[in-house]
Amino acid sequence: MTDKRLAEGPIRVALLGCGVVGSSVATMLTTHAADLAARVGRPLELVGIAVRRAGKDRSELPVDPALFTTDAAELVTRADVVIEVIGGIDPARDLILSALKHGASVVTANKALLAEDGPTLYAAADAAGADLYYEAAVAGAIPILRPIRESLAGDDVRKVLGIVNGTTNFVLDKMDTTGAGFAEVVEEAQALGYAEADPTADVEGFDAAAKAAILASLAFHTRVSSADVHREGITEVTAADIQAAKDMDCVVKLLAICEKTGEGDDVGVSVRVHPAMIPRSHPLASVREAYNAVFVEAAAAGELMFYGKGAGGDPTASAVLGDVVAVARHKVGGGRGPGESAYADLPVRAMGQARTRYHISLDVADRPGVLAQVATAFAEHDVSIETVRQQITDNGRANLIVVTHTAPDAALSATVDALAALDIVTAVTSVMRVEGS
Ligand code: NDP
Ligand code: HSE
Repeated sequence: MTDKRLAEGPIRVALLGCGVVGSSVATMLTTHAADLAARVGRPLELVGIAVRRAGKDRSELPVDPALFTTDAAELVTRADVVIEVIGGIDPARDLILSALKHGASVVTANKALLAEDGPTLYAAADAAGADLYYEAAVAGAIPILRPIRESLAGDDVRKVLGIVNGTTNFVLDKMDTTGAGFAEVVEEAQALGYAEADPTADVEGFDAAAKAAILASLAFHTRVSSADVHREGITEVTAADIQAAKDMDCVVKLLAICEKTGEGDDVGVSVRVHPAMIPRSHPLASVREAYNAVFVEAAAAGELMFYGKGAGGDPTASAVLGDVVAVARHKVGGGRGPGESAYADLPVRAMGQARTRYHISLDVADRPGVLAQVATAFAEHDVSIETVRQQITDNGRANLIVVTHTAPDAALSATVDALAALDIVTAVTSVMRVEGS
């Protein structure tokens, strides 16, 4: 503590929210105060913690109880750095805008807000000449946004493929290892504290879609919002789908897929979240339980993979504190980090144009001409078949498993509709996209 810069007075830090993430942030700010001061060059002084419930017992936290307030709007006016870990759209948005207007830099973990209305926040940060950092918003502890925004700023990122939701990865992993059904595993995830009482945001893919929008925006220098992301959750993944994947030596994962498509004047971006089969040999297949991983392909760097804990108080607080140190250093030394980069302004393509592969299981009649009718449905939609496997079942029926070559999603989807309408097809028992091979 002999550094002369420490004599210039503390950097005032306001914490908005003291739940799962906020509690860990408050604890780390307090217990690591000396190291943080040395790393920043000035002490970080926690000047207040805004919460919703004034009466809640928070005595286990190593902070002065007098710091708690329910007046977040007032708190943001007297801070140099504001950490927003309330979540949701309102009042988080107004509080961040007010903090920026008052000259504070902001650190947030709020992917829902960034994916819905990021440009408003980035514009406010630019107008104020302040920092807006949000590493914790995607994949918790994993440093992924800064590598994309800074380390890969000289390269051409072509694809970002990630498992960015821990709850759904836990559920799919358990379905794969135990053979249990979706509902049963969600109950277990809730009992273990992974899934919320209302798991909709996770299992319906909203959380992953918000993260995909943020990843795509940074990777492709293009504004992508949640509304631009094609989203399918995992609620309809059945034990039969998981078994079908196993039979293919694949595993089912909820993937966030951000791709640059086309070339020259036709270049665009495709951003989607949906369950998909990936080969067990793919690096993402080994991401188990509630872990996250993001696979990045860049023209010059090649393939990169980032892996770690995507949720939880301490892992997320690690990312938040990293941002706090970064923006506090700017307060000490001057300047600011990179703002929004949306110069490329690429069109976001509809899901129908995304190129993918399908795995389709059909229950069909076992008689002459059936394969020919099935093959014709594929050919009529210009979809090429890669493999066909047939298993005879009971009562003169057969299970037909078709894996396609890559084709536009619209053509693949129309093929499935055409197959379902054939007399010889009793049921389309499983349809899943195949990625990563
Ligand atoms: P919690 O629900 O655990 O905590 C929310 C906190 O905000 C609580 O302390 C609550 O107060 C407070 N709060 C709610 N409304 C207000 C308000 N109007 N004014 C002041 N304070 C308010 O959320 P998490 O900690 O789980 O998540 C916070 C953010 O971090 C979210 O954006 C989330 O998406 C993100 N995130 C979370 C991760 C995780 O693992 N949990 C991982 C990565 C990102 P009170 O305590 O009184 O209820
Ligand atoms: N609910 C999220 C998950 C954690 O399960 O990954 C916060 O991003």
